[in-house]
Formats: sequence, structure tokens, C-alpha cells
Amino acid sequence: MNYLIIGGTGTVGKDVVSGLLEQNKTVRVLTRSQEHAEKLPKSATAILGDLEDPNTYDDIFAGTDKLFLLNPVSMSELHQGLAALNEAQRVGVEHVVYLSVQDAETIPNAPHFAAKMTIESALKQSDLTYTILRPNNFYQNDHWFRGAIESQGLYPQPIGNVGLSRVDTRDVAKAAVNALTQSGHENKTYTLAGPDVLTGPDCARIYGDALDRDVSYGGNDLDTWEAQSRSMLPAWMAYDFRIMYAGFQESGLIATTAQQKETRQILGEEPRSFRSFVKSIARTWAHRPART
Ligand SMILES: NC(=O)c1ccc[n+]([C@@H]2O[C@H](COP(=O)([O-])OP(=O)(O)OC[C@H]3O[C@@H](n4cnc5c(N)ncnc54)[C@H](OP(=O)(O)O)[C@@H]3O)[C@@H](O)[C@H]2O)c1
Repeated sequence: MNYLIIGGTGTVGKDVVSGLLEQNKTVRVLTRSQEHAEKLPKSATAILGDLEDPNTYDDIFAGTDKLFLLNPVSMSELHQGLAALNEAQRVGVEHVVYLSVQDAETIPNAPHFAAKMTIESALKQSDLTYTILRPNNFYQNDHWFRGAIESQGLYPQPIGNVGLSRVDTRDVAKAAVNALTQSGHENKTYTLAGPDVLTGPDCARIYGDALDRDVSYGGNDLDTWEAQSRSMLPAWMAYDFRIMYAGFQESGLIATTAQQKETRQILGEEPRSFRSFVKSIARTWAHRPART
């Protein structure tokens, strides 16, 4: 059985790769970068290619039995996702595990949510066997905010005051490995949510407790957030995320009891808590100076 991992050099995908290798699976990983290829575990095979370049599709998809598909947020996300599904059908992939987002339909005007809704819909209408994973906001996003948390005592992700059921990417990866390797997940959709409902002020307080310092929430002003983010992110991405955060501020993204049950079903255990994640990264930060 040959596994192709698209997104396997990123935050979620690297743990999907290692989880499959622990089970001695034959794993191929798509990357656009020779440097990323060289950093892959020795027992994985790198495939150099690019979903934006159809000239590379034959090499990417040949011989694939099972596909993990993660498309990064990009202006071509929809194009990349649909192309991957078309190619999966062409080569006769047995099972596609697609990484989407929780309740994508609730913020349909955010381009990366809309792309995922359309890719999910194409997957469901295809002849492919699928599992769709719909994670909430990742705990690991907070690595981006280390500077603000440590040096300014600010938690800057503008997730609002309603709350999100944020989730650990290691649980997302574990769910993907289970979907790819266990039977019983065919043609099912699973929300992946953590156990807690977290507001912006909750996240700030939990960092404050773990770091033993004052941390306050940066607030809900999306004009300022977008203007500041444009110095770090492409303007189109800051625009897309702003729409998502406006949706979070208005309605939150809270998993229902049924959605929490889906998470436990695919994981086979309880998801990790935000407090335990923060405690462990606070320890890591204490031992590793921030890059300047
Ligand atoms: N962050 C959140 O809170 C959250 C929550 C729910 C859902 N999501 C979704 O999760 C996904 C992001 O996951 P992540 O954080 O693990 O991603 P990531 O760390 O940014 O990694 C992106 C991966 O995509 C690959 N890639 C980029 N462009 C590509 C292309 N043109 N062709 C082929 N591969 C390409 C990269 O490979 P190379 O660079 O090696 O080529 C890398 O492996 C997005 O779809 C996002 O919407 C995120």
C-alpha cells in the first residue's frame, strides 16, 4: 500500500508522515523544495513537484493507493485541491483523507473556508472513497505569537470573546493516520475539536499562568490587526484571515457535543487540552531563546 502525503513537510503533515512510518507504511511526501526533501525522515521518499504545476502531476500521483491531502491557504487553494482530486481519480486512488476546517459553511465569505467547502463538495460527488477531517483553530498557531506574548505580554490572535474549541495539531495528525490506516472511517466527516472553549482573554490568562507574568488579550480591533499583519503576511492572506476572525468574533467556533464525540471516535482517546500544550511550550520557550 503506497501512501502519498501532500502537505507532509508542514505542521500537521510532518506528524502524519511520522505516524505512518511508525507503522512501517510506504510513504511518499510531495514537496516543492529540495531543502525540505532533505529534512524528511530517511524512510520516507520525497517527490519533488508542485500542485500549481500540472507538468509534475504524473510523477506526484503515480502508484498512489492512499492520499492525505492538505492544501495550504493560498490564492490557488481551490485550484490545487480540485487538481489533486482529479489526479487521484485518474490514477485510481483507493482512499483520500482531506484536511478541511470545522464548520467551513459558517464563514462562506472567507476565501480559504469557501475553497474547502467546494473541495469537500467535489470529493463527496466524486467516485473516490473519502474521509474529511474538519479541525478547529490550531493551538500551534501560537508559535507565531511568541514575540508578542513574551516581550509585550499580549496574546494577539483576535479570536474574540465568544470562544473556539481549539485543537492540537498532533491530534489532527493522529486522526489522519487513523483515517488512513483503520477501517470504518470511509465516507465519513469528523470535526476535530479540543476539550475547552477558549476566548481571546482565556488564552491570554492561560499563557500568563504558565509564564508567571501578566498577559492580556490584544483585543478585537481588526483594522489594526490587519494593518499590522500586512508587514508579516501577504496582504491577500491578512484580508482572508480578517474575514475569518470577524466570523469568530461574531459567532465563535464551538464544537457541539456531537462534534466532540466525533473527535473522540476518530482519535480513540481524549484530545489534548490547551493548558497542557501551553505548559509544554512555556517550558520549551524558557530553554530556547527567541530568535530576533
Ligand atoms: N492554522 C489553523 O488554525 C487551521 C485550522 C483549521 C484548518 N487549517 C488548515 O490547515 C492547512 C494548513 O496546515 P499546516 O499549518 O500544517 O500547513 P503548513 O505548515 O503551512 O504547510 C504547508 C504544506 O503545504 C505544502 N505546499 C505548499 N504549497 C504547495 C504546492 N503548491 N504544491 C504542493 N504542496 C504545497 C508545503 O510543502 P513545501 O513547502 O515543502 O513544498 C507544506 O508541506 C490549511 O489548509 C489551513 O486552512 C488551519
